[in-house]
Amino acid sequence: MTLALVQVAKNIRNVVGLMTKLGKLGDSCAIHEAAEIIKRGGLVAFPTETVYGLGANALDDKAARGIFEAKGRPADNPLIVHIANTDMLTDFVDAANISDCAMHLMEKFWPGPLTLIFRKAQSIPDIVSGGLSTVAVRMPNNKVALDLIKIAGLPIAAPSANVSGRPSPVSADHVKTDLDGKIDMILDDGHTSVGLESTILDLSTNSPTLLRPGSVTLEMLEEILGEVTIGYDLCMKNDEAPKAPGMKYKHYAPDAKITIVKSKRDIRTIQFIRHEIKEYPSNYAIIAEEKHLPLYCEKLALKSYSLSSQNLFGILRQLDEDGVVHAYVHALPERGIGCAIMNRLKKAANGNIIDLDEVLFVCTGNTCRSPMAEAIWRKYDTGCNAISRGVAAVDGDILSSNAAIALETMGLDLPNHASKPLTKSDIERASVVLCMSSSHAAIVNSMYPDSGKVYTLAEYAGIHTLSDVLDPYGGNVDVYKNCADHLDELIAKIAEQRNIRKI
Ligand code: TXA
Ligand code: MG
Repeated sequence: MTLALVQVAKNIRNVVGLMTKLGKLGDSCAIHEAAEIIKRGGLVAFPTETVYGLGANALDDKAARGIFEAKGRPADNPLIVHIANTDMLTDFVDAANISDCAMHLMEKFWPGPLTLIFRKAQSIPDIVSGGLSTVAVRMPNNKVALDLIKIAGLPIAAPSANVSGRPSPVSADHVKTDLDGKIDMILDDGHTSVGLESTILDLSTNSPTLLRPGSVTLEMLEEILGEVTIGYDLCMKNDEAPKAPGMKYKHYAPDAKITIVKSKRDIRTIQFIRHEIKEYPSNYAIIAEEKHLPLYCEKLALKSYSLSSQNLFGILRQLDEDGVVHAYVHALPERGIGCAIMNRLKKAANGNIIDLDEVLFVCTGNTCRSPMAEAIWRKYDTGCNAISRGVAAVDGDILSSNAAIALETMGLDLPNHASKPLTKSDIERASVVLCMSSSHAAIVNSMYPDSGKVYTLAEYAGIHTLSDVLDPYGGNVDVYKNCADHLDELIAKIAEQRNIRKI
């Protein structure tokens, strides 16, 4: 099926039907044509205020299956059902399951970029809800979308109209690039206004759970609901089961490598990235807010992309078209819409984040030396977090009792410490990895070669006669206290010099 472009609208901006059959259609004819396709069980990509959706009749099992096929979407990743008025909701959500809170949210944010998850009634086919007992619903704030739903007279199931794993489409061109020939029609309403997919809030759980941040922000939801549980980003950090089915799938990934760099102080982020790319700037690109771009580009001839919620997905597609090999992203603060942008960026970067405010201590079992170093680090005002891991640690061992006593003597503690084995992503994330001995450093370097950020603690403290921090394991309390004093001496030196260092 080859799709061709037809200009059809005057009063609806650029409404264009891309169809197998060409036809000169009147103003709202494209939408009527699209509604007919939906009623017949076909697939139509349509604009919403967030991203373009790929729609089918939500009550028709076979039509909904077509969406999964066209996108290459895993069958257990459920769809959002789009409605044009709240009356439609009771067709597939029991009225008893619509709480006062839900009513309040709908009044305030619908039509708009907020998807709510309810317990579902029978009428929604399992394929739409991914076999779950819940269903996701939203009322989009876009006239073409609302007219399409009203004229079809049906709820429309629609995921974002991209091939699975690609960035969500914010223009009809993006949809065409991904799905040309695989769907019946595209309604073109220009660039979407929000640019990021809707916020998803699960109301079927005991406390409302935010499954995907969006332009209806956590702060806005908290104003109405009080406390909101955060249910996203979790499975990226550990092996916890994803709270939303879609979370486990790869998303938004361009071919270009993406590295996010974050720090509480912009100047550190800028210095770090400029240092990383200075040798071969033509291989790299920088993605940052407009206000930061001049600070990168004045000296370096770099490809640069101005980051905002509206153009994030455009940038992710553009990187590959521009042949960018590696892009550094200057992280945004994770507040308000920044949470939603960073959530998408972390997926695009496959979790590749360098936190310039984090130092990683490494020892063997993560029960003595490195946790003591972590606790001692915290007494110095470096503005930088510390975490610790062990190259041969088991999960969940407690701090050794002698280490706890040694810390207590210094007026310190490390409550709730549970040992963790070192992983590649721990190394990737840290700004600096400080090892207790040269043999630990060798192991870290073999796990993650050429990172240029692995040192022994003594080396990083500028002690030239390199000395390892000896393992106190098996020794008495005094051995542990000596070890803690040695750590304190080295860390104090680093803290003193930190302004001329990476951390
Ligand atoms: O802005 C948007 O939400 C766009 C436009 C087209 O409306 N749609 C969109 O759909 O982004 P999609 O499929 O790309 O993302 C929907 C997400 C998926 O991650 C899916 O796992 C989650 O919603 N979802 C759907 N039903 C769910 C349910 N019952 N429980 C938990 N998560 C659900
Ligand atoms: Mg999607």
